[in-house]
Amino acid sequence: MAKITAGVATSHVPLIGVGIDQGKCDEPYFKPIFAGYDWTKEWIAKPENKPDVVILVYNDHASAFGQEIIPTFAIGCAEEFTSADEGWGPRPVPKIKNHSDLAWHIAENLILDEFDMTIINEMDVDHGLTVPLSAIFGQPDSWPALIVPIMINVVTYPIASGDRCFRLGQSIKRAVERFPSDLNVQIWGTGGMSHQLQGPRAGLINQKWDQTFLDDLTADPERLRQIPHIEYLREAGSEGIELVMWLVMLGALTNPKELHRHYHVPASNTALGHIVLENGK
Ligand code: DHB
Ligand code: FE
Repeated sequence: MAKITAGVATSHVPLIGVGIDQGKCDEPYFKPIFAGYDWTKEWIAKPENKPDVVILVYNDHASAFGQEIIPTFAIGCAEEFTSADEGWGPRPVPKIKNHSDLAWHIAENLILDEFDMTIINEMDVDHGLTVPLSAIFGQPDSWPALIVPIMINVVTYPIASGDRCFRLGQSIKRAVERFPSDLNVQIWGTGGMSHQLQGPRAGLINQKWDQTFLDDLTADPERLRQIPHIEYLREAGSEGIELVMWLVMLGALTNPKELHRHYHVPASNTALGHIVLENGK
């Protein structure tokens, strides 16, 4: 039986990708950003922690989906996906290989569980998906795990509530546990933390609010489920809403235990957050 063993969350700031792709990791600006991933790199390389599959919950930033089609929840079911060209050429990262059978199984189970997933058979994946992979796996010739991409719309309102995202995570957990192969599965939530990229409040960072959010992933998940959109907007900035994707991860875990946390300001114009949660019973 497949099992979700851990949840990992991380910001997906494009600048992290630039730092890696351009070999800047040891420069003073980048050093403290990347230092916070060292623990995770060591942890995930241990055989008992190495995932066979990562369910990677991310958002597209108008790379695969423009204003023509905006799925609220989508799942990538194709065999592989390529890094998107976001204006300066595709990031030099390996192809993203899917576990298609698991992806189709999750799609079927979620749809029968009342989540109307859009099934994606062809798409390029942007920094929302590739930056977390690079931050945690570095620059391998091929990614060490298969990736099931789950895409959440956080770009155009109306956006699903945090609570609905949490329930999506619960449904993903049930689906994974019904998959007959023995697989070590991790679920990753990406995006966040507080950031606003435009308008008069551009550059907004709210360290206190972010740290409480990190605390409550283990201390008070019920509070996080109930955070309304307006609070994300007010306290964490317009792009802080990306944090609802961390709630998909959280919903797929049971009594998670915090193993590692990294919080750094600034990374680009944003607060960078990263956490590793062991799944409990
Ligand atoms: C930045 C952060 C994001 O989450 C994003 O999608 C794009 C840009 C930034 O900090 O520059
Ligand atoms: Fe983003």
